[in-house]
Amino acid sequence: MVESVRKRSERALGAGPLAEEWVARDARVLSPSYTRSYPFVMGHGLGSEVWDVDGRRYIDFNAGIAVTTTGHCHPDIVRAIQEQATRFIHMSGTDFYYPLEIELAEQLDRLAPGTGGHQSFLCNSGAEAVEAALKLARYTTRRPRFLAFIGAFHGRTMGALSLTASKAVQRRGFAPLMAEVSHVPYAYCYRCAYHLEYPSCGIACVSFIEDTLFRHMVPADEVAAIFVEPIQGEGGYVVPPPEFLPRLRELADRYGILFIDDEIQAGIGRTGKMFAIEHWGVVPDVIAVAKGLASGVPLGAAIARRELMTWVPGSHGNTFGGNPLACAAALETLRLVESEYMAHAAAMGELLIGRLREMQGRYEQFGDVRGIGLMVGVELVRDRRSRQEAPELRDAIVQRAFERGLLLLGCGSSAVRFCPALNIPQPLLEEGLDLFEEAVQAALAD
Ligand SMILES: Cc1ncc(COP(=O)(O)O)c(C=O)c1O
Repeated sequence: MVESVRKRSERALGAGPLAEEWVARDARVLSPSYTRSYPFVMGHGLGSEVWDVDGRRYIDFNAGIAVTTTGHCHPDIVRAIQEQATRFIHMSGTDFYYPLEIELAEQLDRLAPGTGGHQSFLCNSGAEAVEAALKLARYTTRRPRFLAFIGAFHGRTMGALSLTASKAVQRRGFAPLMAEVSHVPYAYCYRCAYHLEYPSCGIACVSFIEDTLFRHMVPADEVAAIFVEPIQGEGGYVVPPPEFLPRLRELADRYGILFIDDEIQAGIGRTGKMFAIEHWGVVPDVIAVAKGLASGVPLGAAIARRELMTWVPGSHGNTFGGNPLACAAALETLRLVESEYMAHAAAMGELLIGRLREMQGRYEQFGDVRGIGLMVGVELVRDRRSRQEAPELRDAIVQRAFERGLLLLGCGSSAVRFCPALNIPQPLLEEGLDLFEEAVQAALAD
């Protein structure tokens, strides 16, 4: 390991005095529902490096949970926001026109898979994009029901939460949720709900929907839409096998059900393609995006095939959606991602997954290493034979990484996720991976 890394990692060592003060103030006035894994208090950031309020440097492998696509404070993004801020900051796209919003929707129309054109509903967050997709699906099909997957995360507003089935704590205490949502197992082959093996399973998780759910419980002609993440995010960075999404698309087509692709975490170049679903050659009816779309300025979109956008003026809208600062940041983000960073993410993803697979050879506790591009997860287990989940080990690794100057987050019950900025420089990625391995060794020695 390079000497400079060791010096820095010795300096990081957890929260400093200013950070501790802020954490105490936070606890008094901010909602206790937030889930902070460790006391990192951001001072400033640049690219994939961040400094806390005590001036301690960290490598950022989270990118604000897959949000700062272009790294922190990319000069082109900052310039775009600043220039727009001198013209106007808000006008309300629901009630007035402005070129930036139209230009962004034109880009989304061009980039979204499929021919025939797309129209976008712009909003402020992932959950709001999912809400828009839910409402549009009901409106345009006039059907009441939805399908979603166990392990899915689609957001926390009441409609989106009804689709979410990631952790029980996210739902406990909030019932009744929206009725008529059925959840079925996702293609989580490492822990198949049917205890089958891929490929001899015949993709039982899709046939179950038709053979069991539709026959016994859910009339298919009442289903408006299937919501699916092309790679489950909060559920554990779970990559489905090649047949899963195409088979789901065929099933949806057979019954006139809309295929709604939640790209909120996987989209905008993160997997080396603009939308992750493109890896499977599937064309969705509606795509929900948010997170990485505007490099950190809040913005979401429900992008639908044009003929599905049947709703009339007044049927859906909002105040802040398509905010001009966010649109300016999004246009620059899409330009950078398309021209350069998407390819870089694919190349860095190869390096990342390669290094993690090498480590898998050294550590029995690396049960599964999976991902595409810069959306990669390592599922920790007690041992590879039992595949028993090891959440304490995962949490210890995340903690030890923080103490060494690396910001990581978990996902699923027992996985660590890697979702750095798409433009992370190779030396920083490698430095972070060295710190990660040190953290693994420290956690195993605990
Ligand atoms: C796949 C997916 N959908 C929806 C959401 C909700 O987005 P937001 O937190 O912006 O409401 C998230 C957030 O993590 C997500 O990962």
